[in-house]
Amino acid sequence: MPSTRFDIFRYQPDVSDEYYRQEFSLEHTEDATLLDAILDLQNTQDPSLAVRYSCRSAICGSCACKTNGKTVLACTSQLESLKSEFGDDRLAVDPIGNFTPIKDLVVDMEPFWTKFKSVKPYLIPDGPPPEKERIVPKEAMQKIERESACILCAACYSECNSLAADPEFVGPAAFAWGYRFAGDERDGQRKERAKLYSGDHGVWDCTRCMYCNERCPKGVEPRDAIEKLGGIAFQEKVTRDKGARHAKAFLISMRTGGKLNESLLVPYTDPLGAPLDISFAAQMMAKGKAPSPIPHRIKKLKEVQGLIKNVKETI
Ligand code: SF4
Ligand code: FES
Repeated sequence: MPSTRFDIFRYQPDVSDEYYRQEFSLEHTEDATLLDAILDLQNTQDPSLAVRYSCRSAICGSCACKTNGKTVLACTSQLESLKSEFGDDRLAVDPIGNFTPIKDLVVDMEPFWTKFKSVKPYLIPDGPPPEKERIVPKEAMQKIERESACILCAACYSECNSLAADPEFVGPAAFAWGYRFAGDERDGQRKERAKLYSGDHGVWDCTRCMYCNERCPKGVEPRDAIEKLGGIAFQEKVTRDKGARHAKAFLISMRTGGKLNESLLVPYTDPLGAPLDISFAAQMMAKGKAPSPIPHRIKKLKEVQGLIKNVKETI
């Protein structure tokens, strides 16, 4: 029978305000999951060890935790796979990141639910409801298929670098739900949603670290949903945010010159703040560090313009 050593984050607020770590060792079956092991430890070694779970089948989304720094669903992660992935027979288990622990592996999910509700995660059709059900073409539902698979486990939220820097950032899961409805052809609030998601702490604050895509256990790829929401903001002409203007400067320079014109980025992104950067830009030019402000055109400009058109059509 294999055995695994665990180094588990502990927090028992009834006993002490201090966080601490505790080592355990457990014999288990070859196919035991991390959740099986935690429950076994709870039953046989320490009944105070707290963990949140319900379905044990990757459906309820409540058992996410960190193992050796990586967020996983405890109920679907087999210990033997984790150990071979990390090359270690000792697993460090921690609560998910970007949350406040309440007890051991259980965290306060309130900020996550508040942000989830803030994106209006429900259909808001125009006009009165139809008399019969509204049939939606399969292709239209396929556009939002991945986002519809979200189980709200918060693994993406746990890994999000933007949230680590700005706890007010709305976060990948909520935006995946935002796209689930903004991209639904029955919804009548595309422009309003574009405005709602493009404000402070919104889609343009994503750092594109891609960890949310990498760690989502359901293949939702929330970073892609954020990108699609950016596309909707452009289509709806909701581009006042600096982030949107920055993206637009990229687009304009690619469309007109075929490659990035860095000199355009600052004045277009922040026209009011740009004059403050003039002396800095002049110093950079004097040292040969600044790109030429003269617009350029590559020879294969038409090909680049064609690519931009194709991408626009797929959004
Ligand atoms: Fe979990 Fe993926 Fe939904 Fe994020 S997007 S909450 S990781 S299922
Ligand atoms: Fe429900 Fe793991 S216990 S997703």
